[in-house]
Amino acid sequence: MQPRQQIRQTIRHARRQLSRKQQTEAAQKVAARFMALPDVMNAQRIALYLSFDGELDTQPVIKACWQAEKNVYLPVIHPFSHGHLLFLQYHPHTRMRINRYGISEPTLDIRTLTPSSKLDVIATPLVAFDADGQRLGMGGGYYDRTLGLCAPNSTAIGLAHDCQHWHPLPSEQWDMPLSHILTPSQHWHWPA
Ligand SMILES: Nc1ncnc2c1ncn2[C@@H]1O[C@H](COP(=O)(O)OP(=O)(O)OP(=O)(O)O)[C@@H](O)[C@H]1O
Ligand SMILES: [Mg+2]
Repeated sequence: MQPRQQIRQTIRHARRQLSRKQQTEAAQKVAARFMALPDVMNAQRIALYLSFDGELDTQPVIKACWQAEKNVYLPVIHPFSHGHLLFLQYHPHTRMRINRYGISEPTLDIRTLTPSSKLDVIATPLVAFDADGQRLGMGGGYYDRTLGLCAPNSTAIGLAHDCQHWHPLPSEQWDMPLSHILTPSQHWHWPA
C-alpha cells in the first residue's frame, strides 16, 4: 500500500488535469445528486466549503441550497484551538477574507456561528475516497476532528470526482468515515 502523502500527490495531480468543461459538468451532476438526497431534503443546516486545487466545484450546490432556503455554513480555521474549524453562516453578501491556506472564509462574526453538533449535513472536501467510505484529506485532520464533534444523526457527505477513487486507502484510528460519497457517475452509500 502506498503511503498517504504519495496518494495525495498522485490524485491532486490527476484532479488538476480535468478541463474546465469536465469540471462544470461534474459540478452540475453532483449538485443534482446532492439536492435529491433525502437527508439533504430534510436538512436545514448544511455545511459546505469553497473548492480549490481542482476540487469538485461546490458553487452549484451552494446556490441550490440557498434557493431551497437552507442555511449554508462555511468552515473557518479556529483562531486559537489548533486543528479545529468553526462553522459560520454564508450568505451571498457575507464578508470574506483569505486564510493561511489561501482559501476564502467568512470574516469571524460570532453572531453567525453554529456549533458543529447543530449541523444536519456536513459536506467534506477530500483528496481520495475508497469503497468502504474512508476519506483521505489534505492532512490537517480538520474534518476528522469536526466529524468527531457532529451529532450522531448528522450526515457526512463527500463530494468528489470519479478520479479520486483509490482502493484501499490506508486508514488510521482517527480517520472518520463518510456515509455518502457523490461523484458525477456514482452515489456510494454506507449505512451508519
Ligand atoms: N480527532 C482527532 N484528535 C486529535 N488529532 C487528530 C484527530 N484527527 C486527526 N488528528 C491528527 O491530524 C493529523 C492529520 O490527520 P489526517 O492525515 O487523517 O488528515 P486528513 O484526514 O487528511 O485531513 P482533513 O481532515 O483536514 O481533511 C494526524 O496527525 C492526526 O493525529
Ligand atoms: Mg483523516
